[in-house]
Amino acid sequence: MAYNRENYRKIRAAYQTKYQRAQDIADARMREVHAASPEIEEIDRALNRTGLDIMEAALSGGDTYEKRLSEIREKNEALQKRRAACLAALGYPKDYTKPPFECPTCMDSGFVETKMCDCMRRELILAGLASSGLGKLLETQSFGTFRLDFYKDDPLVLEQMKRNLQILRDYAETFTTNAGNLLLCGNTGLGKTHLSTAVARRVIERGFDVVYVGAIELFSEFERVRFGAGSDGMRGDRLAPGAGDETARFTECELLILDDLGTEVTNQFTSSCLYYVLNERISRGLPMIFNTNLTGTELRKRYADRIASRILGEFRPLVFAGTDVRRQKLH
Ligand SMILES: Nc1ncnc2c1ncn2[C@@H]1O[C@H](COP(=O)(O)OP(=O)(O)O)[C@@H](O)[C@H]1O
Ligand SMILES: [Mg+2]
Ligand SMILES: [Zn+2]
Repeated sequence: MAYNRENYRKIRAAYQTKYQRAQDIADARMREVHAASPEIEEIDRALNRTGLDIMEAALSGGDTYEKRLSEIREKNEALQKRRAACLAALGYPKDYTKPPFECPTCMDSGFVETKMCDCMRRELILAGLASSGLGKLLETQSFGTFRLDFYKDDPLVLEQMKRNLQILRDYAETFTTNAGNLLLCGNTGLGKTHLSTAVARRVIERGFDVVYVGAIELFSEFERVRFGAGSDGMRGDRLAPGAGDETARFTECELLILDDLGTEVTNQFTSSCLYYVLNERISRGLPMIFNTNLTGTELRKRYADRIASRILGEFRPLVFAGTDVRRQKLH
C-alpha cells in the first residue's frame, strides 16, 4: 500500500511546518512568561537540569543511584507544582507554554512511534481524493447512491447488474495491487462511470494511489507532453515520461481507471499511447479498470490486434445492461 508520492511529500512538509509553528508559539509564550515571572524562569532552568542530574547520578553509580533518582524525581515534582501555582497566580492557563499541537496523539509529527497517525492518514486520503481526477463525480457517485431498481424491468438484467455490483464491491473492498483488470462495457447511461467512481473512492479510502482519467484527457495529456510547450524536444518518439510529466502517473499509480475508451479519435498516436500504458502496467502487474461503450467486436475493429488482444485477454469483462438511467431519472 502506497499513498500518492507527491501528496505524501507535501503532507510531510506541511506537518513539519505545523510542528515548527507550535514550537515557535510555545517559545514565544515561554519568553513572555519568563519576562512576567523571574521565579518561573528560575524553576524552568532547574527543570531543564533534570536530565543532567539523572545522568550524573547514573555515572556516579553505586548503591546510591536508586536513592538519588527518587530524590531527583521528588524535587522535580515539587518544582512542577510550584511552577503551576505561579502560572495560575499570573492568570495563565496551565498548558500556556506547551506547544499547541493540532494533534496531541502524534504531536504533529504524523507518526506514533513507527506507525502513521490517523490524522495523517485522513489527510492523505483527502489529498488522494483531490488528486485522483475524480473531481465533482465524487459528490454524487458512490456505492451508497447506486440503485438497483433502475434495472428491475428485466429480471435477467437485474441479475446481471446485481452480479456486477457485487463483483465491483468485492474488488474495491479487497483491492491489492494484484487485483487484476476489469473491463466495464455496455451502452451509455448504465452506471459504468458511477460504479468505477465508487470503486476509486473506496480504494483511495483504503490507502491506495488511484488515478481516474477519461480517454480523451489521457491522450491529450500525452500529446501535451510530447508535442506541447515545455516538451524538451529530445524525446524522439519515445513515450516514456520525462521530469515534471503528468503521464508518469498513468503508468505508476496503483489503480488506473480509464473511462470512455473509444470516444477518442483513434489514430497512430493514440494507439501507441494506449499500447504503452497497457504494456507498462501489465508488465508491472498494476491493475486497471477500463470503461467502454464498445463491444468486443468493435474493440477488435478499432484497435490493432496487439491492443485488442491485450484488453480482451487480460481484463475481466463486466457487461452493463438495461435502459439509460440518465433518461429514466428524467421521467
Ligand atoms: N444504478 C444507478 N443508480 C443511481 N444512479 C445511477 C445509476 N446508474 C447510473 N446512474 C446515474 O446516471 C448517470 C449516468 O450514469 P453513468 O455512470 O455516467 O453511465 P455510463 O458511464 O455507463 O455511461 C449518472 O449521473 C449516474 O450517477
Ligand atoms: Mg461513463
Ligand atoms: Zn496525529
